[in-house]
Amino acid sequence: CYPSIPFLPKIFSDYEFTNIKCSCFDESFCSFEYCFLKSVNRTYKYGSLKVTLHQGPADKIKANFAIYKRLNGYKPFLYNVTVDACKFIDHPSSSPVMAYIFQLFSPFSNINHSCPFDNVIVDKVSIAHMNKQLTKILPFPKGEYGIFSNWYIYGEMRASVNVYGSLT
Ligand SMILES: *[C@@H]1O[C@H](CO)[C@@H](O)[C@H](O)[C@H]1NC(C)=O
Ligand SMILES: *[C@@H]1O[C@H](CO)[C@@H](O)[C@H](O)[C@H]1NC(C)=O
Ligand SMILES: *[C@@H]1O[C@H](CO)[C@@H](O)[C@H](O)[C@H]1NC(C)=O
Repeated sequence: CYPSIPFLPKIFSDYEFTNIKCSCFDESFCSFEYCFLKSVNRTYKYGSLKVTLHQGPADKIKANFAIYKRLNGYKPFLYNVTVDACKFIDHPSSSPVMAYIFQLFSPFSNINHSCPFDNVIVDKVSIAHMNKQLTKILPFPKGEYGIFSNWYIYGEMRASVNVYGSLT
């Protein structure tokens, strides 16, 4: 079960994706097959990505997520959490903040299972879903935000995924 975080009441209206950037730092270890945002029409916009690990299924994975706000460049805004991904996936209540971030995309992904992992697909995370999750509890003021993540596998930073968006 996913615990909720006691946030302030909501004070804004809409979340919009603006960009997504995926990087693998060692192409012999991993690669992104795709990573994009797509606008189908005014109301239906989504993000998808697929990453493959080339050296077999991994079970030593650390996920580091942080939320940034754009001022002069993106500055740390709220949270910078790191979890052992294999422990977290089996016990989401161990990190309410990560559970909150995780639910933004996990229903659209193939990662809601125990370790190991050899590929990750996130398929068509819609703005509508993000909006629903974010506006439920997010206390953020208007502005441009980044949800950045770094992925450490077997002790080394192998990949990052940065999602940019704005609250209007
Ligand atoms: C936008 O596209 C989606 C998916 O194709 C469709 O279900 C929806 O009706 C469209 N909305 C508008 C306003 O055209
Ligand atoms: C993950 O899977 C469990 C068990 O199937 C389910 O109860 C939970 O709601 C899922 N979590 C998310 C965030 O999709
Ligand atoms: C979290 O903070 C550390 C230390 O400042 C930084 O190196 C790391 O890049 C931050 N994480 C993210 C996802 O930005």
